[in-house]
Amino acid sequence: MIGKDIQYACRLLKAGQLVAMPTETVYGLAGNALNPRAVAAIFAVKNRPSFDPLIIHLPDFPSFAPYIATVRPELEALARAFLPGPLTLLLEKSSLVPDLVTAGSPRVAIRVPAHPVARELLGQLDFPLAAPSANPFGYISPTTARHVADQLGAKIPYILDGGPCTVGVESTILGFESGRPVIYRKGGLAIETIEKVVGEVAVKPYSSSNPQAPGMLKSHYAPSVPFFLAAALHRYPAGAVLIRFREYKPGWPEAQQHLLSPSGDYEEAARRLFALMRELDGSGAPAIVAELLPEEGLGRAVNDRLRRAAAQG
Ligand code: TXA
Ligand code: MG
Repeated sequence: MIGKDIQYACRLLKAGQLVAMPTETVYGLAGNALNPRAVAAIFAVKNRPSFDPLIIHLPDFPSFAPYIATVRPELEALARAFLPGPLTLLLEKSSLVPDLVTAGSPRVAIRVPAHPVARELLGQLDFPLAAPSANPFGYISPTTARHVADQLGAKIPYILDGGPCTVGVESTILGFESGRPVIYRKGGLAIETIEKVVGEVAVKPYSSSNPQAPGMLKSHYAPSVPFFLAAALHRYPAGAVLIRFREYKPGWPEAQQHLLSPSGDYEEAARRLFALMRELDGSGAPAIVAELLPEEGLGRAVNDRLRRAAAQG
């Protein structure tokens, strides 16, 4: 069921049930992070392998304290600048965080969503919410309540509707290695913006066997129909549709092209990306082709999703 009843969602969560909740990035499939049965249900509903850890969501930075082992000096500045918002911090966990949540890792991923509905929900709970994106494992993340209902509606009791997500790609994940900031996932907070606060950050490449980030698999966000990155000279099936940033490509039928942001706004492109991919996936087109955006600002997060949607295996 889809609805806007925050109190009902609270009651379900307190009873150990799952609720899909809006955040500004994507919709999450939320459950009590301290309740092993609720956490196990999240993995089961998503069909997610248990080696892929979950982000926990808290109402504010001060409430991190019980769940982390140490406070790094950079944390305060990062929290002041970017929380609440589309930034997830990967930190040494305390023993309160179940190993199931972190897939056995000594680090826990924590985020403070900015969406007013998520904030109100979290403010009424005395436990963190574990919440991966509310999509079946490996598919495109949901940016509306309807997206969630289409795939998980029959498996969960309630979908809290907070309207379309305003950021539209998942949070940026930031951790530290040997004291230096490292990005593990490009996301809704631009790397350039983070660098203004902590200086230069390194970006970890994805891999299917990276012990630092077991779940950051290369292939992800994959539509059901074949998905390609545009390449010169490649021939695509007749009727293939093209995703581009701001202008139509000459020589390709305009009716088969979709622009992410005619005004050239990276944030608009990120906001629209997943809904467009879903729409095209169900449109009957035999293939989807996408052209990469310039590698700057949220263009980098959009390109990351396009590359991973196109990756095989
Ligand atoms: O914007 C977001 O972050 C959304 C909303 C719902 O908050 N959540 C989200 O969760 O994208 P999920 O589970 O779809 O992606 C979380 C990523 C996964 O790639 C997972 O492997 C990684 O974060 N991750 C979570 N905990 C981790 C940990 N302890 N160590 C390494 N990677 C971790
Ligand atoms: Mg996900």
